[in-house]
Amino acid sequence: MKQLIIEGNKKLTGEIEISGAKNGIVALIPAAILSDEGATLYNVPDISDTKSLLDILELLNCPTKYANEELEIDTKRIENKVIKEELAKKLRASYYFMGALLAKFKYAEIYFPGGCNIGTRPIDFHINGFKKLGADVTIEGNKYIFKANKLKGAKIYLDFASVGATINIMLAAVKAEGKTTISNAAKEPEIVNVASFLNSMGAKITGAGTSEIKIEGVEHLGRGIIDVIPDRIESGTYIIAGALMGENLKVSGIIEEHVESLLSKLKEMGVDMKVEENYVIINKPSEYKPINVKTLVFPGFPTDLGQPISVLLTQANGTSILEETIYENRMGHIKYLQKLGANVRVNDRTAIFMGPSKLKGTEVVATDLRAGAAMVLAGLTATGTTTINEIEHILRGYENIVEKLQNVGASIRIKEDKE
Ligand code: EPU
Repeated sequence: MKQLIIEGNKKLTGEIEISGAKNGIVALIPAAILSDEGATLYNVPDISDTKSLLDILELLNCPTKYANEELEIDTKRIENKVIKEELAKKLRASYYFMGALLAKFKYAEIYFPGGCNIGTRPIDFHINGFKKLGADVTIEGNKYIFKANKLKGAKIYLDFASVGATINIMLAAVKAEGKTTISNAAKEPEIVNVASFLNSMGAKITGAGTSEIKIEGVEHLGRGIIDVIPDRIESGTYIIAGALMGENLKVSGIIEEHVESLLSKLKEMGVDMKVEENYVIINKPSEYKPINVKTLVFPGFPTDLGQPISVLLTQANGTSILEETIYENRMGHIKYLQKLGANVRVNDRTAIFMGPSKLKGTEVVATDLRAGAAMVLAGLTATGTTTINEIEHILRGYENIVEKLQNVGASIRIKEDKE
């Protein structure tokens, strides 16, 4: 298995350019199959989740061309096929093919999705939404079967503002007859990105980015075109790296509004930052004030940055608290922070940090994607060598993480299996 090897405690200086959003592209690729004429996507991140979805497009007979962050998808000869288990389970977002295939063919067969092991992650809101639109849903072993004679617009209320359910129902409803309303919809920027893409094809979606989305069904969807938004979680991860080890570290290509909740927490901690509309310059302060962080839906503090910011909390002067409210099991990284020397304890979904702690390099595990990001941040901060195992999780979501960090002065490399 590949490992990441980091020699820590080196100043980070220079510029890191942010890539397209993982949680944007993973929904945009399935959305593309709704077009009868194909689609062009720009700013597409080269991460393993993108590759996994391109494999599903190949199975569906949608040829693709992907170079220089530009992705061309030909949907003209699309065929409806069972999405096989080995493809579906590679990532969570394979479930967006449920909504997309159902809208396109009124029929879909797809195995259970995969993704990070951070909680039970049911998809009952997605399923209930499809049923409201007129679909029959059955489960056969590890496979879902969706079937509809026709899909008809409906009023759908989500018990929780789920990102996945909002997007999946939007996908299923774009070609349904009449009007669909999604109430208590999620407001994450990736949802706006998907709605803009569908509207570029001729869909009639309004209200994306608010808690009520309205969709007027259309019969035909033409060519789609979209720029993937910058990854706000990647942005946040490198901004935190700057707060930990930065010396005029510039993180560029961000959308300030998308990272506001993080910036406001860093200001509270006393991190030295110059914030402009599309970049931030960050310096490590001489001391960090302790803070409390509670993860929430957008525009609150993102659950995906809870693990990364926990590394910074180990460095604050006093007691800080991180409360995770979205997932039951997002504290898998804490035992490795402890192994690195952090004074932190966990009580269910809350972690209490008593800092500052001196971190010292050791062997750790990336238990999931953002836990992996936290281990990289900890490795950059620790003295000595940190070895991270199971880095496949990290490569699913961070484009060129090694090169980006090397370019700003980090000592980080991938150790291949046979070394
Ligand atoms: N939930 C249900 N039923 C459902 C759907 C969700 O109970 O039908 C619960 C979940 O179990 C969870 C909460 O609602 O407790 C929120 O889940 P949500 O549906 O919003 O999350 P998701 O769509 O599965 C996406 C991202 C996650 C990110 C969350 C929250 C993708 C592929 N994944 O997941 O990203 O944490 O939204 O912002 O877009 C990551 O990138 O590391 C990651 C896990």
